[in-house]
Amino acid sequence: MPAVADTAVLTPDLKDQFLNPHISEHPQEGITPITNKPVIQVIREKLDSMNEDRWESDEENSFFVADLGEVQRQHLTWKALLPRIEPFYAVKCNPDPMIVKMLAALGTGFDCASKAEIEQVLSLGVEPSRIIYANPCKQRSFIRYSQKHNVKKMTFDNAEELYKIKENFPDAELLLRILTDDSQSVCQLGLKFGAPLHTTKRLLRLAGELGLNVIGVSFHVGSGCYDANAFGDAVHRARRVFDEGAEVGFNMSLLDVGGGFPGADVKTGNTFERVASILGPAVDALFPPHIRVIAEPGRFYVNTALSLSTHVIARRTVTREEITPGTEQVPEFMYYVNDGMYGSFNCIMFDHVNPVPFVLQKDRVFIEDAAWHEEPVYKCSIWGPTCDSIDCLAKETTLPQLDVGDWILWQNMGAYTVCAASQFNGFNKSEIHYTNTFV
Ligand SMILES: Cc1ncc(COP(=O)(O)O)c(C=O)c1O
Repeated sequence: MPAVADTAVLTPDLKDQFLNPHISEHPQEGITPITNKPVIQVIREKLDSMNEDRWESDEENSFFVADLGEVQRQHLTWKALLPRIEPFYAVKCNPDPMIVKMLAALGTGFDCASKAEIEQVLSLGVEPSRIIYANPCKQRSFIRYSQKHNVKKMTFDNAEELYKIKENFPDAELLLRILTDDSQSVCQLGLKFGAPLHTTKRLLRLAGELGLNVIGVSFHVGSGCYDANAFGDAVHRARRVFDEGAEVGFNMSLLDVGGGFPGADVKTGNTFERVASILGPAVDALFPPHIRVIAEPGRFYVNTALSLSTHVIARRTVTREEITPGTEQVPEFMYYVNDGMYGSFNCIMFDHVNPVPFVLQKDRVFIEDAAWHEEPVYKCSIWGPTCDSIDCLAKETTLPQLDVGDWILWQNMGAYTVCAASQFNGFNKSEIHYTNTFV
């Protein structure tokens, strides 16, 4: 692994790996080309390079542009606003190899949920001490894999897991994942994980009896958390469990404040700035400086880093029968694009988001030159390419009239998108092109 930057600015040798415009002009085998052009320019050049005569080669497939510079900028923000808390990126959120490599170079740690994620991170040369296996219910062979590779930090929230860890990795460094109030989060993880506070002392006692090593407490306020106070409340709960640990004989030294941090797309309400202004002081007030504090941000790092361009592959014009006779019939449209709910837009189902469509190119006129902003808009719905009617990306929106061959852009598509995309109905996953706009 190359040297770790531990700053948002990469050292010159690392920079070369993440910014290689010369290579992107002349692709070399085995090296992922990365330009330094603005995202919109990368998209435009890709669209301009398309030739309708060659479309049998799938040229008009939907595609992502990932801006690795956005990941760097987010890291800078994290360091500035939560300097005491070490980010361990939640790989599950977007395990794209270039993103994970960038974060490894920046010096973050990693939250892994499975053997494969641990393998991915270790293969980059990341020290095992920079990994937390943050899944409270683990497969036995995966625990043994962690032991073999010296990935010691792992979470638990129940007695059975303690017995399993005792058998498979008795020297593990354990964090007790506690239940917090996640009622103010879009994805409430407490339904599945987290020890209620009335069980924590019992679990700590059991861990002591088994001779296990509990080094700290972790929590997750839920993904897509929209109330920063949830973090403050959770820190208080963690303090209580630290004190219980001391009573039982554990000298805990690590607090893990989990994920749930908003991305840079959240500009009002529960912004990252607001979360940091509550979490940082709460941690400082309740945990002395010798306690190490880590977090498991996912969405925060990547949501704004990926934009997805989709091609309108079909259109159906709908005329409403119920329109009053004698009045002018206004058409409504159903557009079909070539990525959908079973692909990158699985986030609609699993992450409860409502992606927003923008017209990117219409009648071969790109957004930046477009005069069609003044055109009338029509009600429409947007659908993915599969034969399933659940595959709906926007039930009702308004757009200028589009036609087959036009392009629609979806921004903020970096979190919980590519990672869970399938190839249902034989559709390819959207490929990713890279740029790095951090200068
Ligand atoms: C254990 C754990 N840590 C971290 C995360 C990342 O959460 P987020 O993307 O909201 O920061 C998740 C998401 O599900 C998780 O389950």
